[in-house]
Amino acid sequence: MNNIIEISGLNVMHGDLRALADVSMNIESGKIVSIIGANGAGKSTLLNTIMGVHAPAAGAIRFEGRDITKMRTSKIASLGLAMTPEGSRVFADMSVMENLLMGAYLPGAKKAKAGQLEKVYDMFPVLKEKSAQLASFLSGGQRQMLSIARAIMMNPKVIICDEISLGLAPVIIHDIYAKVKELNAEGITFLLVEQEIKRSLRHADYSYVMVKGRVVMEGKSSGLSREAVSDAYFGINQFA
Ligand SMILES: Nc1ncnc2c1ncn2[C@@H]1O[C@H](COP(=O)(O)OP(=O)(O)OP(=O)(O)O)[C@@H](O)[C@H]1O
Ligand SMILES: [Mg+2]
Repeated sequence: MNNIIEISGLNVMHGDLRALADVSMNIESGKIVSIIGANGAGKSTLLNTIMGVHAPAAGAIRFEGRDITKMRTSKIASLGLAMTPEGSRVFADMSVMENLLMGAYLPGAKKAKAGQLEKVYDMFPVLKEKSAQLASFLSGGQRQMLSIARAIMMNPKVIICDEISLGLAPVIIHDIYAKVKELNAEGITFLLVEQEIKRSLRHADYSYVMVKGRVVMEGKSSGLSREAVSDAYFGINQFA
């Protein structure tokens, strides 16, 4: 098995609070992997720790076999990890195109900039249409698309999406997952935070369930039942 990201024994503290307790995960290259968990489970803390935003108290994160645990965020990004933040944050007072170009600030991405922009516009025609408009005029779904498109501008190997579908209408969520599948078919690995069990099992190859900073269940989505995941998610039987 070829794991693009390996997380072992990760502990992260927010002051006195242990936000992550002994978290281990293996993200297989070329897959869509989802993390399911209720509010406060530690999902964002985990993604931000992978991206070098939080320093873990213990544990290690490897990307393509390389230890990235203590690397700076910009360095981690330059290796091929791009993240779309929670709440599909975009630069509201910049145009759609300026937002996209912000995604290509790293030396590696800069070279490929024109080609990437073309690719992104092909893939998201609505962003091309609105290219000169301020991002603040985009709908929630369009912002999430822009956020993903901005990640693509970095020509990443892995895209990490925090709360990919939160607050969006079902039809928009459907479109977003269609784009994820398209990019995944091109070889991009996805690590997604998804709050809905059903959607996670439907779209991801592999799912992790987190409760209070711990991984309480994991497995191929095809082999996990909604009932079992739901029990784990809501904390029933979590210590059985
Ligand atoms: N910067 C911080 N300082 C202190 N505590 C924090 C900080 N960030 C998160 N926490 C706490 O750490 C725990 C995990 O939070 P985190 O945001 O990682 O969870 P989450 O699973 O992403 O939740 P949500 O679904 O609400 O986004 C929570 O108890 C939260 O209150
Ligand atoms: Mg979060």
